[in-house]
Amino acid sequence: MLLCMLHWHLTPVLATSQGMSEFDFLSGIDDVPPTPILIAPQPVLREVAREVRPEDMAFIRDQLPGMFSAMYKAPGIGLAAPQVGLGMRFALVDVAEEDAPREPMLLINPEIVTDSEQMAAREEGCLSLPNQYAEVVRPESIRVRYRNLAGETIERDASGLLATCIQHEMDHLDGILFVDHLSTLKRNMIMRRLAKEQKLGRR
Ligand code: NI
Repeated sequence: MLLCMLHWHLTPVLATSQGMSEFDFLSGIDDVPPTPILIAPQPVLREVAREVRPEDMAFIRDQLPGMFSAMYKAPGIGLAAPQVGLGMRFALVDVAEEDAPREPMLLINPEIVTDSEQMAAREEGCLSLPNQYAEVVRPESIRVRYRNLAGETIERDASGLLATCIQHEMDHLDGILFVDHLSTLKRNMIMRRLAKEQKLGRR
């Protein structure tokens, strides 16, 4: 019997930043057609995404150029797989300033290892809820563990905008949108406004 098993690498790496070699396609990203981003209330945005498996990596690698293109063109600072209709646990993040060098991150099967007791309120938006913004309270800093494209386990500390963005993207993997952190009244108001604007926009 021939057994062909794929395994994750087991060695954890503590990283301060991600190797750019993973993203060598980014040099020509402006010419890559952006993957269409789904707008709420698309049902897939409310589903819990499944774990990424080693055999998914080639597929994910193929999705990245279109997804990065969509995130940068929007422009946005994060994009989770469910937002392009993929029910898999991975997300892109890049919180670099517009004129600064890019700082792309790919988080596969991310988990929060620790989060701070200190909370921070920050205004959030979402490419799946265009033009809608609200202040959301989340832990100010986190340590996140995830896999990179090579399948290595990475642990990284994040605070401020990066911590907010990672937590926002991780929520997407569980079908949670930033409006779920608001009162029902505020959430309903935003969802109604979004529906109205989308209807007007499509005329
Ligand atoms: Ni979002």
